[in-house]
Amino acid sequence: MGRESWSVAILNLETILSHYILIPHSYFHAFKEHRNASLKRLVEVLVHLKLNLKKATFAIQYLYKPKMIGIMSAMREEIQALLNHLEHTEQYTKGKRDYYKGILFGKEAVLVFSRWGKVASATTATQLINDFDVDELIFTGVAGAIRPDLNIGDTVIGKQLVQHDMDASPLYDIFEIPLLHKTFFETHQDKRKQLTNACQLFIKNYTDVISKNEARNLQITDPKVVIGDITSGDQFISKQSQVSFITTHLESVVCAEMEGAAVAQVCYEYEVPFSIMRVISDKANSDAHVDFPLFVEQIASKYAYGIFKNYFQ
Ligand code: ADE
Repeated sequence: MGRESWSVAILNLETILSHYILIPHSYFHAFKEHRNASLKRLVEVLVHLKLNLKKATFAIQYLYKPKMIGIMSAMREEIQALLNHLEHTEQYTKGKRDYYKGILFGKEAVLVFSRWGKVASATTATQLINDFDVDELIFTGVAGAIRPDLNIGDTVIGKQLVQHDMDASPLYDIFEIPLLHKTFFETHQDKRKQLTNACQLFIKNYTDVISKNEARNLQITDPKVVIGDITSGDQFISKQSQVSFITTHLESVVCAEMEGAAVAQVCYEYEVPFSIMRVISDKANSDAHVDFPLFVEQIASKYAYGIFKNYFQ
């Protein structure tokens, strides 16, 4: 382990010990002196501090626990290609959802599709966080374009998430989540950047996985990556009146879907880093009910596979 990693490791250890097992802060000076120590030396330090075996083991195990990444979508089709590449898969069924835990591109991951809507996705996210102890949660799926320059096949990386069907006015401002004092939930800055880079890399070479025929059939030409706000609600958006409502009240929104903001709220409440990637499957208009299923069936999962492959490397 290099000097850098040891510093990070010891700092993490300090945080863990102080938060979880209430070790006096003065003990940490002893750790600091051993930043460049070997694991053997670190164990000696723990013994010297008279941590009992249980606490010391807990601290070391927690410190070296591999990161667990949670990946969610609303529909099986949106993550099927990732499921196909998951290795050493263990399946758990809870609350009528199937959670697939395994190794994805060399990293520990747990994958689940929630089914549609805010309730389904919020309960699934809660289970994912509590039962699988995920260190970050990434949502992947499709969305309807709200901003007129977005086309089918473009990718949106969520900056902030909002629920366009939340309205407890006049008690609270429209869209504000009662008692939480929040309307917008921001995604994790570093994860967002990482996901953006992964998308940009994928989009550059999207023809490697999307055939010319598929691109033509689905009207995908020259796709782009956009970072923007996403709105969620328990409505499929296909009418001009729905789009006008969103654009009038939520000017920063670029696309609409049915889960992201609910998951963002759960992650906010549990303090789990959250990021989201949505591919535009339709233009939230009268063709949406035709474009959406075609895109989901033929393309969505290929995007997810290509983007996550880059993200994990
Ligand atoms: N997901 C994909 N397209 C959508 C739309 N038009 N409305 C809501 N969610 C969507």
